[in-house]
Amino acid sequence: MTSPSSAAGDRARAVIAGIGSCLPPLVVTNTQVIARGNLDTTDAWITGRTGIHRRRLAGPAISTGDLATAAARAAIDSAGSAVPRPDLLLLATTTPDRPCPATAPEVAHRLGLGTVPAFDLAAVCSGFLYGLVTASALLRSGTCRAPLVVAAEKYSTIVDPFDRDTAPLFGDAAAAVALRLGDADEPGAVLETDWGSDGGGSDLITVAAGGSRLPATGIDTGIGIGTPGHGDRCFRMRGRQVYAHAVRRMTSSSEAVLATTGWRPEEVRAFIGHQANQRILDAVADRLGVPPRHRLGNIRDVGNTAGASVPLALADAAARHACAPGARTLLTAFGGGLTWASATLLWPDAPVRTAAPEPRPPLHDHQEVSPP
Ligand code: UT7
Repeated sequence: MTSPSSAAGDRARAVIAGIGSCLPPLVVTNTQVIARGNLDTTDAWITGRTGIHRRRLAGPAISTGDLATAAARAAIDSAGSAVPRPDLLLLATTTPDRPCPATAPEVAHRLGLGTVPAFDLAAVCSGFLYGLVTASALLRSGTCRAPLVVAAEKYSTIVDPFDRDTAPLFGDAAAAVALRLGDADEPGAVLETDWGSDGGGSDLITVAAGGSRLPATGIDTGIGIGTPGHGDRCFRMRGRQVYAHAVRRMTSSSEAVLATTGWRPEEVRAFIGHQANQRILDAVADRLGVPPRHRLGNIRDVGNTAGASVPLALADAAARHACAPGARTLLTAFGGGLTWASATLLWPDAPVRTAAPEPRPPLHDHQEVSPP
């Protein structure tokens, strides 16, 4: 489904004014992943079939919220004082700090944003682009003036280190963008978007336990308590089927958003797809007709960072000045749900900031508020 026109006027667009990212310091090679899980695979298989050479893992002391807070603070810093103070925070994540409450309000609190609205968004690997579509619409409708879209993931908490099919694929990371309202012809302008879902494929990517179907505490089956096993608590993916859906959906969504924008694929100067597998990315770009020199990504060094992967690749490329501000850019993602989303934008002109994870400060008793 492509985006409708805005209440703020046809030329008004969300503009990416700040970009921040956060990678945990621990670098883990394919050889180390294989050794840790005693996996029946090889470094050559992983690099050849996925393009992944290494990833960053957060370790027990660093949470998704710690990564998110650092990336968000970096994006605010990148945007500088010309952009209004963030008045909304949206956190895309599959791995919140806790099932309840959402992680976003605590991130907003840690950033000192006061009582701004803050919520988590669950669209798995399409999370950042779902967030960008949502925040752009809220901005253009006048609901907010300066939303922060943060995507943060700690898949090392849900990936089974002994599962050959998924253990080599994922890494931990966060990235964020600060948005403001601007014009359709300025660098960073988000021009058009497309998003969709197909719940018929909801069993292809799952964490079975921890929700209402199979609570983490187990369910009363009438003849005893059924408790989730280790496998139920872990991320599972039917890789080959997901591969086919990913290529199909990212291609068709990209085609839809390019058509709405009025760009031909050969006019795209920066293509960033969800960093799940280099072969998937090449298949999508080949089908679209985007030449190899305009394909940007960092899967080699960070693996699949799920919802964080698109803004992390954007931050990485922008930090390397891979494109000139204003260059025609296409972002596309696909993930569990199934979900997908794409956006066209003009390459941002923002100084990328990177940050180390922020440890959570000690909690103080929440101040009581007297009833009126
Ligand atoms: O982020 C959310 C979206 N995620 C994705 O888009 C990921 C989509 N899927 C993929 O990236 C790929 O499907 C995988 C990387 C998961 C698997 O690669 P593949 O090229 O699709 O492999 P396959 O599942 O078709 O399996 C091919 C062969 C099989 O052996 P046989 O049946 O041909 O004898 C597998 O058993 O490779 C085998 N295999 C492996 N061998 C060594 C599967 N995984 C491995 C492994 N090491 N890790």
